[in-house]
Amino acid sequence: MSPSKRLFLPLTLGLLLPTAPLAFSATPKPEDHAKAGAALFSDKGCTYCHGAVGQGAKKGPPVTDLWKDKTWTDEKITNQILNGGQKMPPFQDSVSDDEVKDLIAWLRAKNKPLPPPAPPQDSSAPAQ
Ligand code: HEC
Repeated sequence: MSPSKRLFLPLTLGLLLPTAPLAFSATPKPEDHAKAGAALFSDKGCTYCHGAVGQGAKKGPPVTDLWKDKTWTDEKITNQILNGGQKMPPFQDSVSDDEVKDLIAWLRAKNKPLPPPAPPQDSSAPAQ
C-alpha cells in the first residue's frame, strides 16, 4: 500500500462518520414515511393526474383505496411509479428509491396524511 492510500481511508472515514449519526438520529416512524410520501405526491406532480389528495381526476384514477387492494404489492406499485403504465409517465428519472418507498408508505396508509397544497404556479403572486 502506498503511503498516500494508507492516509486516504482514515481520512474519508473521518469525513463521512461525523455526518452519519445525523441521518439516523431520529428513527423515522411509518407515519413519517407516509407524511414524506404525501409531500412527494404533490411535489412530484402526481396530484396533477390523481387529484390534490389522490381522489382521482380527469387524467388519473383515484389511489386513495389502493391500500385495500392486495394485488397492489410494493413491487407492483414501485413498477408503476418507475416505469409508468398505459397513460402514466415513468418517474424513474425524477424519483429516487427512497422517495418511491415514501410514496408507497403513503399510498398504503389507511388514514392518509393529506398532501400539502401545491405551491402557487405563478411566482409573481404575492406571498400569503
Ligand atoms: C400524466 C398523468 C399521471 C401522473 C403525473 C401520475 N399518474 Fe399515476 N396513473 C395515471 C394513470 C392514467 C393511471 C392508470 C393506469 C395507467 O394508465 O398507467 C395511473 C395509475 C397509478 C397507480 C395505480 C392505481 C390503479 O389503481 O391503477 C398508482 C399507484 C399511481 N398511478 C401512482 C402515481 C404516483 C405516485 C405518481 C407521482 C410520482 C403518479 N401516479 C403520477 C396517470 C398519472
